[in-house]
Amino acid sequence: MHCSPLPRELGLADSLGAPLPLPGVFVTARGLRGVGLRDCLDDAHAVAGRIASYIWHQGRHPLRLTDALIGEHAVIYALLDHIEQELAGLDGLTDVQRLTRTLAATLLSHARVEDSMLFPALEAHLGRDGPLACMRQEHAEIEAAIEDVANAATCEAAADRLRYALQSARDHFVKEERVLFVMARQFMSERDLERLGGNWAAARGVVLA
Ligand SMILES: [Fe+2]
Ligand SMILES: [Fe+2]
Repeated sequence: MHCSPLPRELGLADSLGAPLPLPGVFVTARGLRGVGLRDCLDDAHAVAGRIASYIWHQGRHPLRLTDALIGEHAVIYALLDHIEQELAGLDGLTDVQRLTRTLAATLLSHARVEDSMLFPALEAHLGRDGPLACMRQEHAEIEAAIEDVANAATCEAAADRLRYALQSARDHFVKEERVLFVMARQFMSERDLERLGGNWAAARGVVLA
């Protein structure tokens, strides 16, 4: 004798596996077989664990926002290296400005995501001053350096500001990875980080299956 499977309309039956047995004696091909209370409790415990896991993951995204931002850093590090190598071979102002626009398209977009998703959520825990004020100031300084390249009068001036932006971005990323993102994981709940990870995926147009 077995208990009824979990209702399919709840979407649980397929994900939770076989139904629970109940205590009793059964006739099998090898004769009589008993199912004791201990067997049932063990099975019930296993199913309860699967239910808890199922409920925990309903409506959640498996990607934390901080993990997504670290992934963006990894790609941008490669872009910073590439731009630095390209810059060494350029001697024209418009070439340096064109190269800088490639950096700006990625770097400023990354900063916007942090400014709009991570920093406001962290403010509830850290306040506006301290690390968040420092990170916002560094975003502004990098953006100002990129603008300076666009407005530069000479190739040398543009290259100087671009090199400053490249190094500032690297230093800023390291601070975020070693301090700010660690604080985010320390103070924000997993649920909030994963909810924001879902928002990040929607904003970036990637699918979290
Ligand atoms: Fe940042
Ligand atoms: Fe960042």
